[in-house]
Amino acid sequence: MWKQPEFWTTVAAVAVLTIGHYVAPTHDPFWHDLFRRLYYLPIILAAFRYGLRGGLVTSVLVSLLFLPHVLMTRAMLLRQASEAVFEIPLYLVVGVVTGILSDRQRKANESLRRAERLKTLGEMAAGMAHEVKNPLAAIRGSAQILTDRLSGKEGELAHIVVDEVDRLNRVVNEFLDYARPAPLKREPVLLSTLLDSCLELLAPVVAQAGVTVKRAYPKGEHKVDVDPNQLRQVFLNLQLNAVQAAGTGGATREVVIELRQDGRSTLVSVHDTGPGIPADKLRQVFEPFYSTTPGGTGLGLPIAQRIVSEHGGRLLLGSTPGKGMTATVVLPGGRR
Ligand SMILES: Nc1ncnc2c1ncn2[C@@H]1O[C@H](COP(=O)(O)OP(=O)(O)OP(=O)(O)O)[C@@H](O)[C@H]1O
Ligand SMILES: [Mg+2]
Repeated sequence: MWKQPEFWTTVAAVAVLTIGHYVAPTHDPFWHDLFRRLYYLPIILAAFRYGLRGGLVTSVLVSLLFLPHVLMTRAMLLRQASEAVFEIPLYLVVGVVTGILSDRQRKANESLRRAERLKTLGEMAAGMAHEVKNPLAAIRGSAQILTDRLSGKEGELAHIVVDEVDRLNRVVNEFLDYARPAPLKREPVLLSTLLDSCLELLAPVVAQAGVTVKRAYPKGEHKVDVDPNQLRQVFLNLQLNAVQAAGTGGATREVVIELRQDGRSTLVSVHDTGPGIPADKLRQVFEPFYSTTPGGTGLGLPIAQRIVSEHGGRLLLGSTPGKGMTATVVLPGGRR
């Protein structure tokens, strides 16, 4: 902040206006009215640049600098002083309102930029995935034949080729999911059954990571209208992330899955006792390709977020670094 020209422009403007205001001849109301109003410029500049915080700090500062002047004038010209004192709440209102609007605008711009980036990425991925998939299928087929024919060290090498091609295929498929999001096929789905089926798929990973999974939801309740195939991807991603995180250590390697429903929405939360995510990374994890997991592509959370928002819901992450993380899927449509 100290290095930004807007910061120093604001400070210089407030300083120059304050000095001008105090040295202007007391008998000439023109200069006093002028300086009093020019104070709005640094307030608006700071609110534009630094949002609510900037607007509030600058308007409070200007009010404090202006107050002694009001008291001085009050001793001399009662009418002008009572007019001037109304300026202080106005400074605060202008600082706060401009700050809130500018924060809102910044957030809107950010999500627009992200949506644009994701769109470009999706288009690129679709083109690339198409080109890559056919040769990959040929390589896999040939390597598979070799694994059947070769033994010993050569056989092992052919196995590696097959495994790595499978991994590449998974990455390419994830790209495709991203590039060509299928339209939602909604149907009434029992969420507990869907969560159970995801956990069954992950059972080998859970066992390998030495993690205990607690299912904190009753069976056979919580029906919602969703696309089960797409939502399965969301829960698989979140559960896998949680198991991987919980498996990285700590005394209690635990993942707790909860399911709640109120009158308006349905919430599924996946909590883990892993290392959590530092506050400054909480947004970054939704960027495609951000990954700290060995072998991860960094597409799990962005894909999950896209699917959830297509359902009209939200994906929220809450984390206490060092203690764990909770990912919550909020879906519209509550208890019937
Ligand atoms: N439960 C969690 N605890 C701690 N960090 C997490 C958790 N879930 C996600 N993260 C962080 O967010 C990153 C991105 O997650 P994301 O699921 O998008 O990608 P990934 O798991 O790395 O790869 P993949 O594409 O295979 O899912 C992870 O690499 C990890 O750093
Ligand atoms: Mg993941």
